[in-house]
Amino acid sequence: MKTLRLKIIAALVMFSLNAVQAQWFTEPLNIMDTMSGPNYNLTFQNGIWQFYSGVNTGTLAYNGNVLGPTLIMNEGDSVHITVTNTTSEVTSTHWHGFHVPANVDGTHYNAIQPGETWTPSFKIMNKAATYWYHPHLYGTTNRHVSKGASGMIIVRDEEEATKDLPRTYGVDDFPLVIQSKIINPNNGQIVLTGPFDSTMTVNGVVKPYLEVPAQPVRFRMLNGASRRNFMIGLSDDRNYHQIATDGSLTPEPREMNRVFLGNGERSEIVVDFTGQEDSTYYLMCYGTELGAFVPGGATGGGGMGANPYDSADYAIMRIDVVEATNNPVPFDPNQTLTTIEPWDENDADTTRQIVFSGGLGEPFIFGDTVFLHNVINQVVPLGNIEIWELVNTTFLTHPFHVHDVQFQILDIDDGPVPIAEQGLKDVVNVPAFGSARIMMQFLDFFNPDTAYMYHCHNLAHEDEGMMAQFVVVDTTSSVVTNIQESDRQVAVYPNPADVFVQLQGVSGDGQFILRDMLGRVVLVKQVNGNSEPRISVSDIVDGVYSYSLELINEPDVLGKLVIRHPR
Ligand code: C2O
Ligand code: CU
Ligand code: CU
Repeated sequence: MKTLRLKIIAALVMFSLNAVQAQWFTEPLNIMDTMSGPNYNLTFQNGIWQFYSGVNTGTLAYNGNVLGPTLIMNEGDSVHITVTNTTSEVTSTHWHGFHVPANVDGTHYNAIQPGETWTPSFKIMNKAATYWYHPHLYGTTNRHVSKGASGMIIVRDEEEATKDLPRTYGVDDFPLVIQSKIINPNNGQIVLTGPFDSTMTVNGVVKPYLEVPAQPVRFRMLNGASRRNFMIGLSDDRNYHQIATDGSLTPEPREMNRVFLGNGERSEIVVDFTGQEDSTYYLMCYGTELGAFVPGGATGGGGMGANPYDSADYAIMRIDVVEATNNPVPFDPNQTLTTIEPWDENDADTTRQIVFSGGLGEPFIFGDTVFLHNVINQVVPLGNIEIWELVNTTFLTHPFHVHDVQFQILDIDDGPVPIAEQGLKDVVNVPAFGSARIMMQFLDFFNPDTAYMYHCHNLAHEDEGMMAQFVVVDTTSSVVTNIQESDRQVAVYPNPADVFVQLQGVSGDGQFILRDMLGRVVLVKQVNGNSEPRISVSDIVDGVYSYSLELINEPDVLGKLVIRHPR
């Protein structure tokens, strides 16, 4: 009886979801409130938001029920931010794309406990462009972002202010946070993993419409989705002009009709609607052009075509052109916007290689290990000019992101960089079975004790350990004392494990503790340094666990262990 009633309720909820889906493009685009400095107060909080009308979905957000306010900042300003966590979950807030000291970068080094407030201050050193902020606690980033917590940051500078560009927020300059979400049709709640990210949102609204004036209009687009990639164009296939990449204006406007957006990437475009009053267009994702091996493309979803949006062309927002404003900003496609000195690869002091591996039932990783809290993977001398060669041995494209710096892409698969990816970037999409080289300089900040992250911005990959860390050190004054640059001394393998895990490189006595995702201890084993301990895990149920290897006289080694018993 009870199950029958539940089934009926489930059927009703599903019916209502389908009913609203028939009415797409009926809700106006949500334009997030703005907040200007120098003081910014953010509250990370629980909310309730109706992605589907009549269906309450539990969310996490900053200062509201979905996403967060758009922070407007000026280059050169010193800003003071408070982030108060009113939820019952530990979190952190990262300033994606910002060149800030490691101790205010907002990763798990700056965890904010429930009820606590974090108060970073820093100077804005980035060029005018669109950046964003989002939770960044290792292991829960996907959960917090998928549930709604992210916001945009608009950096303005004196150079940008002199250009003929639309810049009136919400009038001719629109933030577009593009995200797909997985919403369970039975209970209306957000689910974190799976191929069914079929709720397409812009600024938290499912397939909204936007009225734009009949003049040049600026779209600041962010792929804020956890895993899906977008190939953005207009429904009439018109050309528009790209005017900014992740970390800067482009040297000049670039005419094109497609922009690829991997997870975490931003791109600004100017679309000219002059003379087109009363017409209607759609902002499209041309998913058929994503190709294979890309989440959202043909085989990259893990669902192998299960999701109707995979490898499909679909509209994400309707655009209704209305009357122009009084003084439309003229847009000159031939103006110079900024100058970016291309790197000369002969100037590199150091070249590092980072190999992406894993997949097919195992976590994606860099090198041979998931992220380890106590291992510094790279030590970078302050001022160094570096080339990082990213070698992807997996069957999936990964959006590789580096904290602290903006880089330039030297080549992709040994070939030229697509025009839309040239310029200052903090995400590079490294093709499946392919490679990319990026080049950058590590200036201004050093701190031997607090690391910056580099990671895959596919959030499930990041949380599963496709992340590593680097410190920047000042070689002239400080010496790294407590850090070993490491290809990792201790290995825990195989991972995923079935029958046992083997610990390699243990040099002292201690214990190995395994905890489930709720932090409950499921296994404690004494280990000693004279052997290579082998620990049975055959009785432990399938799942993701965190382990800590606590050794006497050595820093703890922490990591994730996936246990999977074949059926
Ligand atoms: Cu968007 Cu490490 O972050
Ligand atoms: Cu970042
Ligand atoms: Cu990845």
